[in-house]
Amino acid sequence: MSAIQITPNVFAVGVKDPELRIFDIVMPTEFGTTYNAYLIKGEKVALIDTVKAGFTVDYLANIEQIVPLRSVDYLIINHTEPDHSGSITELLSRSPKLQLVCSGAALPFVKNVINGEAEIMTVKDDAVIDLGGKQLIFKMMPYMHWPDTMMDYLPEDKILFSCDGFAAHICGESIWDNEEPRDLMHEFKYYYDAIMRPFSGYIRRNLPKLDALDIAMIGTSHGPILRKNPLQYIDLYKEWTADRVKTKRVIVFFASNYGNTKQLAEIIARDLTNDGLVAELVDLTICPADMAREFIETSAGVVIGTPTFNGDAPKPVWDLVGLFPTVYSIGKKAAVFGSYGWGGEGAKLVADRLSGMKLKLYPEPYRARLVPSDEELSELSKFTAELAKFFG
Ligand code: FEO
Repeated sequence: MSAIQITPNVFAVGVKDPELRIFDIVMPTEFGTTYNAYLIKGEKVALIDTVKAGFTVDYLANIEQIVPLRSVDYLIINHTEPDHSGSITELLSRSPKLQLVCSGAALPFVKNVINGEAEIMTVKDDAVIDLGGKQLIFKMMPYMHWPDTMMDYLPEDKILFSCDGFAAHICGESIWDNEEPRDLMHEFKYYYDAIMRPFSGYIRRNLPKLDALDIAMIGTSHGPILRKNPLQYIDLYKEWTADRVKTKRVIVFFASNYGNTKQLAEIIARDLTNDGLVAELVDLTICPADMAREFIETSAGVVIGTPTFNGDAPKPVWDLVGLFPTVYSIGKKAAVFGSYGWGGEGAKLVADRLSGMKLKLYPEPYRARLVPSDEELSELSKFTAELAKFFG
């Protein structure tokens, strides 16, 4: 891809990766992707981001179609994930007066990328760099989707450079959204679900920073530039990141082989409901992943019941646990229980994993051996009474 002029003194200088079929190890990318970068020419020259290593030669060639590399003044580093920072070191070696600009959170990452000397300026919210005839205004967007993330606004051209925000993995013939023949909205949502959804709570808090900006175009880091109704994409992020937690809702997930863990689950759900919560039972062996995600995101807390098979929790339980990092679950209240035969390790292992994912965990799992005895059921009553206070 050659450099493409997008406004009189702003150019797209990124590269295409049409063959990419897996992004970040886990995300299938049927339509490849692009690593977008931008060049802004005022009296001074600024670059927004670099590209993935392996594409550096094309990236540098694109820049040189506009200006000599030695004349670039600033490299704005919106985010240091290697798909955008992979050419920084090479650019530094070719651009002797280059000043790097990044968020404070990005500073240690930038140092770890370049592993050498460079002039680095950190910026905060609303900081301005005057390029002479054009200004760049910075907006910190932590955890969208890394702690270092920031966006940049160019008021003279009404362009928001949005980093990974509002992106999509599409590698099209055209750089423009309105010339993309595939279903951009579908890919936009797919990207949000895979990359942004786990950080929805952070994104929700930061999106209002964009409200005062007059945005005519969004230059993302992947996929088409958004110029046909760009605000709709911001509005969709606001909709998708809205807080949907129902404050009394507690989901009692369970998997049960012989009915003992199910019996405990039913008692817990009944007692929590009697204590004023809205507890719902969900059998993990028949609950689709999308529905389980929805339960997690909309509940104030979760209780997970697991038996123990061969010293471990069974797969449906681990499948559920594996969903927590795919949604915004930090600080969500959780508790674990289960029936077991001899070892009883399953509940403890699940509790340890949830704790490791920074959920707010009720201290000790409740466990009962095989068919719950009267004494164990009495202990369960105490457990649910404490749980009601924990979730309440
Ligand atoms: Fe496109 Fe988070 O890197």
